[in-house]
Amino acid sequence: MLVLAWCAASGGVAVARPLVGGGGGGEAGKTKAPLQTMRAYNIAHRGSNGELPEETAAAYLRAIDEGADFIEADVTATKDGHLVCFHDTTLDDTTDVADHPEFAGRRRTLEVQWANLTGFFITDFTLAELKTLRVKQRYAFRDRSHNGESRIITFDEFIDIAVSAERVVGIDPEMKNPVFVNKQVRWADGKKFEDKFVAALKRRGYGGRYMSPAWRAMPLFIQSFAATSLIYAADLIDSPKVFLIDDVGVRTEDTNQSYDEITSDEYLDYMREYVVGVGPWKDTVVPPTRDNKLAAPTDLVARAHARGMQVHPYTYRNENQFLHFNFRQDPYAEYDYWINDVAVDGLYTDFPASLRRYQEWTATGREG
Ligand SMILES: *[C@@H]1O[C@H](CO)[C@@H](O)[C@H](O)[C@H]1NC(C)=O
Ligand SMILES: *[C@@H]1O[C@H](CO)[C@@H](O)[C@H](O)[C@H]1NC(C)=O
Repeated sequence: MLVLAWCAASGGVAVARPLVGGGGGGEAGKTKAPLQTMRAYNIAHRGSNGELPEETAAAYLRAIDEGADFIEADVTATKDGHLVCFHDTTLDDTTDVADHPEFAGRRRTLEVQWANLTGFFITDFTLAELKTLRVKQRYAFRDRSHNGESRIITFDEFIDIAVSAERVVGIDPEMKNPVFVNKQVRWADGKKFEDKFVAALKRRGYGGRYMSPAWRAMPLFIQSFAATSLIYAADLIDSPKVFLIDDVGVRTEDTNQSYDEITSDEYLDYMREYVVGVGPWKDTVVPPTRDNKLAAPTDLVARAHARGMQVHPYTYRNENQFLHFNFRQDPYAEYDYWINDVAVDGLYTDFPASLRRYQEWTATGREG
């Protein structure tokens, strides 16, 4: 059972402080509080990255302290074949690479998913080189006081954070830009990025089917925008997979297919053999109007649910910049709409503390 502690702050104001996490230091042999499975999953997108620089150990530990069910990461590869957690293909926007004169010559242009991109590509750096960089906050309107405190972490370090938490915390790693990574990085043993990704999970004991005892002990969703990578991984590991769906104008990196093609009934019927659900950009499920209000929802959620597929939309963000006007600048109103009206099964959020509070406030009963 999850425990919510209520602390009375001085001055008599009761402050909710969800002490559900235990950022680390779980004791072997101790029975861990299980993953909740009674309500939509709270998936901490790149950690608690609304508060701390994304995909850092600090952001993941914060997300666990805040009550996230899953921590999410983008997994990519270094020049020397190590798997690391990093969202962008280039280091420019979220690290201090520009302040390192020794790397100035690395900037170049490469094609990524049908477009030319210029920057410092993560796949041009060894792990040792990446470890000399420091991570920073992506957005100017978020807290930048923690810029420069954290380093890029490996996929193994990410897994360690989840498995050493004091309660059961799931992981939700993405095979990021697999076509690009397989083109840029070569492994001496001839294996592909997808092989290395799955091997890293299996080495740590992951692998059970959705809701099996093995899965409940070590919950995992494997995500990708590349259907071919998910289908390839399905041969290697039983763990549940989620097919990510990009914005309507974006063609898939692996098969060069359109949004309409990959969300057709035929394609969902095909993918449900390999995945337990889909992860759409939320503005494709409930498209915004030109004046930033919500238009009518599409039938994607209904068609996915009719096939027994879960829907985990991305990304929920507290700030006004991201909230459609129907929500009156209230992120809790947005959660209420998506959980109760749209009825999604999981939510990727930059603010797991807010989603956790919403779910605690509206809980009709505790799972036990
Ligand atoms: C990227 O740039 C190269 C070199 O200028 C060019 O040949 C190629 O067509 C460009 N690709 C895209 C997708 O624009
Ligand atoms: C991807 O598909 C579009 C639409 O059919 C086509 O115009 C484009 O040439 C394709 N790109 C490649 C690289 O095949």
